Order: sequence, then structure tokens, then C-alpha cells
Amino acid sequence: MSTTDQHPGDEIEVPSAEALGSMSDEEVMIIGAEADGVHIVHRRERYPIAGTRAEKRAERTIAALFVLAFLSAVGFIVVFCGAVPFEWHLPGQGSQDFRYFTPLLGALLGLSLACIGIGVVLWAKWLMPEEEVVQDRHDDPSPLPEQIMTSATIMSGLNDFGVARRSMLKSTIGLAGAALGAVPLVALVGAMIKKPNKGAGQSLFHTMWTKGVPIVYADGRRVGPDDLLPGGLETVFPGVPGGVKAGDSPTLLIRLRPGQVVKARKGQSSYQWGDYVAFSKICTHAGCPASLYEQQTGRLLCPCHQSQFDVLLDAKPIFGPATRSLPKLPLGVEVVDGKQYFVAQGDFPEAIGPAFWERP
Ligand code: FES
Repeated sequence: MSTTDQHPGDEIEVPSAEALGSMSDEEVMIIGAEADGVHIVHRRERYPIAGTRAEKRAERTIAALFVLAFLSAVGFIVVFCGAVPFEWHLPGQGSQDFRYFTPLLGALLGLSLACIGIGVVLWAKWLMPEEEVVQDRHDDPSPLPEQIMTSATIMSGLNDFGVARRSMLKSTIGLAGAALGAVPLVALVGAMIKKPNKGAGQSLFHTMWTKGVPIVYADGRRVGPDDLLPGGLETVFPGVPGGVKAGDSPTLLIRLRPGQVVKARKGQSSYQWGDYVAFSKICTHAGCPASLYEQQTGRLLCPCHQSQFDVLLDAKPIFGPATRSLPKLPLGVEVVDGKQYFVAQGDFPEAIGPAFWERP
């Protein structure tokens, strides 16, 4: 145990640099603290006899926390890199386990950070010397002897931390810190390992539209060619059993005005049916619903960032941040009970929504 008879506000005589050099770090630290107006009222080692069973037990508990932090961080990296095969499926069309992917990542990262935090706090509370100090405030610049004492204070603090002699804690916290440090790197390069257009990522290229799927209103009623007036627009959905459960299928069905001609993209001239065309409603900039339609000019406006698509140019972006045309749905009709109704002739020929890298 080390204490001093000094009290807050007492002036102390600071030894010379040579004298300080001959003292231990702890002695210099105490003098330095006093000189700096920090009075150490009480200070004692938690384990005056080193290597007791109680000390080793405390050390092992803290090391276990660091090991757990390491394993959690490694678990995060493994899960993030796809070692656990979470695959996205539509509801009712396969396992919904993919919903646990993000919570699992969060739990593993949180556990790793929590274990390191708790481990460091316990290290300070269980293994470092007990200390009570009272500190004065002062504003003067520090002369050289005080700088030496400050440096000694830091060294003494590190010594109290016991990094040098607690090799088990040193290696386990190093291990946990290294794994945790790798987490941001994995997040950065992980997207390059997992290609969105491979495996489960194929789902990015498909919606619920398939050949023959009825085109329906939001309430499930079927849409026919007589429903819209020229220049009209309607949001429609795939009429699949159980209703639409995916957010990537809303489609704009547009009836052109007389005299309006759409300049179709290569290979897509058959996608139009009569004076009807249909485009994905999901803006190719950031995925907002693009549905403000100006029928006289044939312009479609996305309200989020003002991208404009020219329907007469096959929904090509002509203003704003969007850079890609809205995908076009191939239209057809079928006759039911003597009445014509729209059906899809297939899915959109490309991925809907915002552009992403490695789009074929
Ligand atoms: S989401 Fe449509 S312009 Fe940005």
C-alpha cells in the first residue's frame, strides 16, 4: 500500500530530473500526481501476493470473456461471408430462415463488443490497484520535470494494468481485438466475395410475374383492355394465389393517348399490347414508386429525387439521377367468359429497381 501525507492544495517540492530518474515508476507517479494537484488518498494492490488462486481465477474469467469476444467476432465474419447458407425465398416458397441473418450478425458483433467491454472493466476492477484520489485544477503550462512525471504516470498505469506479466490476458485481448478489427474489413470486402447475382442473389433478377399470370388491381379484380381511358395509368399486380407478398412486383399499366407511339427497345417491340404498355413502378435510382404521370407529354416522374422517364422512349430516364430505363413487362390478353383480360407474357427481362454492380 502506498499513501502520502500531502493534502489537496499543499505545495510540494518537485525533485530534480536526476533524482526522479533513480526512483520507481510508482514513486515518481505519486510525486507527479501530488505536483499536479492530484492527491492519492488511498492506493493498494488488489492482490499484494502475486499468483494467488483468487487472482488466477479472476484472470481466467476475464480471459474467457476475451476468448468469447474473439469467437463472436470470428462467428460474425464466418456468417457474413456466407458460411451459413441463408437463402431468400418468397413466403410459402421455402425456408424463411434468411430473416435471422441480420439479427444474427448484430447479436454476434454486439456480443463481441460487450465481452471486450466487460472484460476491460473487470480487469480494472478486479486486478488493478485500488485507488482514491482528490484532484485540484490548475492551468499553468508544464515544466520538464512535470512532463517526466506525466510520462512516469502513464508507465505506472500500464504497469498497474499488468500487461507485461499477465500473458494470458494479453494474448486473449489481442486475439479478440484482432478479430474485432477484422470485422470492418470483412464488411468492406465481403460484398466482393458474395456476388448478388449468384445463388440466392438470383432472386434480385426475378419478380412474381411469370408467363400467364393475370394482371390484377390491388383488390384482386382482373384488369381488361376496356378499363382505362386513353392517357390513363393504373398500378397493377400479379394475380398469384395468396396475393402478392413481395415488394418488387408493382407495375404501371399505361394506356397511350391516340397518336402516341412508343419507341421500343431492341427485342421488346412485342411487349406492347394494343395501346397499352407496362413498366416496373420501382424507380431505377433508389427504388421509390415512380407514378406521377403526365399523359400529354408521356413523362413519368419519381417524387423522391425528381427523376423523369419518357414513356414514349420506353421509359428512358431523361432528367434526374436515375440512369437506367424502367424495365418493361411483356403484355398479353386471355379471354375468360367472352371478356378479355390482361396477363403477363413473362417476367421483366432484367432486374427491377436501383442499379447494382455486376448487372449482366
Ligand atoms: S428514387 Fe426515384 S429519383 Fe431517386
